[in-house]
Amino acid sequence: MASGEREYFTLDDFKLQGSTVFLRVDVNSPMNPVTGEIIGTTRFHSHLDTIRKLSDSKVVILAHQSRPGKEDFTSLREHARIFESLLDRNVDFVDSLFGDYVTSKVKKMRSGEIMMLENTRFYSEEVNIDGKDLAAMEQSNLVRKLVPLMNYFVNDAFPAIHRPQTTLVGFQRLVPNIAGELINREISSLSSFMGGDMRPKIAILAGAKINESISVASSFLKNGTIDRILTGGVVANAFLWAKGIEIGKRNQEFIVKNNKNYRELIDVCRDLINRYPESVMLPTDAVLYPSKQRLIVGESVPDDQVMADIGVDTIVEYIDTISRAQAIFMNGPMGMYEFEDFSVGTFEVVRAIARNKGLKIAGGGHTLSVLEHLNLMSKISHASTGGGALISYLSGEEMPVLEALKASKKFFAGKYHG
Ligand code: 3PG
Repeated sequence: MASGEREYFTLDDFKLQGSTVFLRVDVNSPMNPVTGEIIGTTRFHSHLDTIRKLSDSKVVILAHQSRPGKEDFTSLREHARIFESLLDRNVDFVDSLFGDYVTSKVKKMRSGEIMMLENTRFYSEEVNIDGKDLAAMEQSNLVRKLVPLMNYFVNDAFPAIHRPQTTLVGFQRLVPNIAGELINREISSLSSFMGGDMRPKIAILAGAKINESISVASSFLKNGTIDRILTGGVVANAFLWAKGIEIGKRNQEFIVKNNKNYRELIDVCRDLINRYPESVMLPTDAVLYPSKQRLIVGESVPDDQVMADIGVDTIVEYIDTISRAQAIFMNGPMGMYEFEDFSVGTFEVVRAIARNKGLKIAGGGHTLSVLEHLNLMSKISHASTGGGALISYLSGEEMPVLEALKASKKFFAGKYHG
C-alpha cells in the first residue's frame, strides 16, 4: 500500500530534519538470570532503519524493559549502550523519564544527536492509568512534561501495539503520531500469512505467556485459520491440566501465581480440547528439572521437580508434523532453553521449522533469540518482533497503538504538509 493510502502517518509523510522526535521503541529483551546480561539484539536491530531515517533530527528514545515485580525489570542503561554500538553513534543515556533535568538536556540537543530515557515502566503513570482513559493520560505529569519538548512522536514499538500504556498511546491528540519503519514492515508481512490458503497451516504455541497463547489458540481454531496447534512450555501445561493430567505442584503453582484468571484459562483449554480433539497436540513426554529425568506425561511429577522441556517422543512427533506443513507460525520456547540440558526440544523444533520450505513466521523475544543463537534467522520468511502483540494481532483483536496512530492521522490530517 502506498504511504498515501495508509490509515496512519508514516515517516515519508513529513520532513523531520531539525525536529525533536520522540521515538517509542520496544527493546524489551530476555536477560540471563545470573549475569543480568541482555540475550540477543534482534529487537535492537529491528529499529535501526527507523533511527537511521531520523539521522537529521534530535531523537529521544522511549522504551520499557519487563514489568514491575520481575527479576529483569531493570534500567535501560545497557540498552542504550547496545544501540550505541550497533549505530556506531553516541547515545546519551539519562536515568530519568521526565522532569527538569530531562527538559534541560532535551532542550540542549542538536540535530543528529540521540538520547535514551529511563525505563518507562519505572513510572506509575505509564502502567496504572486505565488504557481507555485518554484524558487521564493527557493530564499525567509524564505527558504534560514531555509533550512541550517534542515536535513529533514516532511509534515503532510493534511488540507493544496491544498495550494501551501512556507512552504508547497518550500523545495521539497532542502531536502527530507517526508509524516507524518496523510497524509498517510487520503489518504488511503478517497479512500475507493470515490471507494465504496454504494447507496444512500450523501454529506452535509455547512459552510462559499463556493468556495470549490460549486466546489466539481459541481464535485460530474457531475461525479455522489453523489446522493444528502444537503446544509446549507453560501453554502445554495449561492444556494438560485442563485435560485432568497431573503436571506437578510447581508447574501448577507457576500458572496460578502468574495468571489471576487461571480458572477461566483452564476452562477455555478444556473447551478447545473437547471441541477440537484432533487439532490440539500435547506433549506425550517431558524432561524434569532439576533431575534431568524423562517423564511419560500422566506419570506422577515429584513435588520438587518441574517439567522443563518436551521429551524425545514429543520431539519426533512435532518434527513430523512440522515437515508436512505449508505454513507455520511459532511463538514461544518448548521449555527452559536457557539451560543447555533443557534446550533440546526448543532447538530441534526450531531446526525443523528452518528445514521446512513453506511460509514460516516466527515471533516473540525468546523465539528470535533462539533463531539468532542457532544462526537460523535467514531461514525464516518473517521474524516478527512481536510476542503477545503478534498473537493478539493475529487473533483479530483491536490494537490500541494502531488505533492511536489512525486517530492521530485523522486528528492532524490537513494540518501538516511535511
Ligand atoms: C513484549 O515483550 O511482548 C512486549 O514488550 C510487551 O511486554 P509485556 O507483555 O510485558 O507488556
